[in-house]
Amino acid sequence: MKYMNQIKLEFLGLPANVAFARVAVAAFASQLDFTLADLEEIKVAVSEAVSNSIIHGYENAPDRFVRVFAALTADSLEVMVEDDGKGIEDIDQVLQPAFSDADERLGLGFVFMQSFMDSFQVDSKPGCGTKVIMAKRVVTRITQVNPEQ
Ligand SMILES: Nc1ncnc2c1ncn2[C@@H]1O[C@H](COP(=O)(O)OP(=O)(O)OP(=O)(O)O)[C@@H](O)[C@H]1O
Ligand SMILES: [Mg+2]
Repeated sequence: MKYMNQIKLEFLGLPANVAFARVAVAAFASQLDFTLADLEEIKVAVSEAVSNSIIHGYENAPDRFVRVFAALTADSLEVMVEDDGKGIEDIDQVLQPAFSDADERLGLGFVFMQSFMDSFQVDSKPGCGTKVIMAKRVVTRITQVNPEQ
């Protein structure tokens, strides 16, 4: 099997569960040799995707479930965040930086997800739901050898 480990989380789309999902995925990812900075970036990407499911997908309805799947290969984390909410009509439009359907929001969630993760994809069907699939690789650090020693 391609994956060394996998988790599935399912939780109500309540704002309090954004922190739960972020911490759970980071704890899972820390089985690999990610740097603390990488783990912080993973946390932001997961927070943004889960927040979007709650705020936009479910329009803050407190009785709907968000699902998060995470998997580890030998050198990467794959994460999928999924809702059964209202879906996205025009994916190209919402991926534009600073696009938001809410006046008080910055429209930067997808920008963060794209810049912090190595791969990023959105699948959505209006009326059915949205799936964000992201991955991040562990960067192998080569220890510098001092030739004078
Ligand atoms: N799960 C989702 N379901 C339905 N629409 C979504 C979903 N995720 C994102 N969108 C749409 O994509 C737009 C852009 O999302 P993005 O996260 O980039 O910005 P935002 O959520 O509006 O603002 P910010 O994340 O900066 O608070 C949203 O305004 C919304 O219209
Ligand atoms: Mg957002």
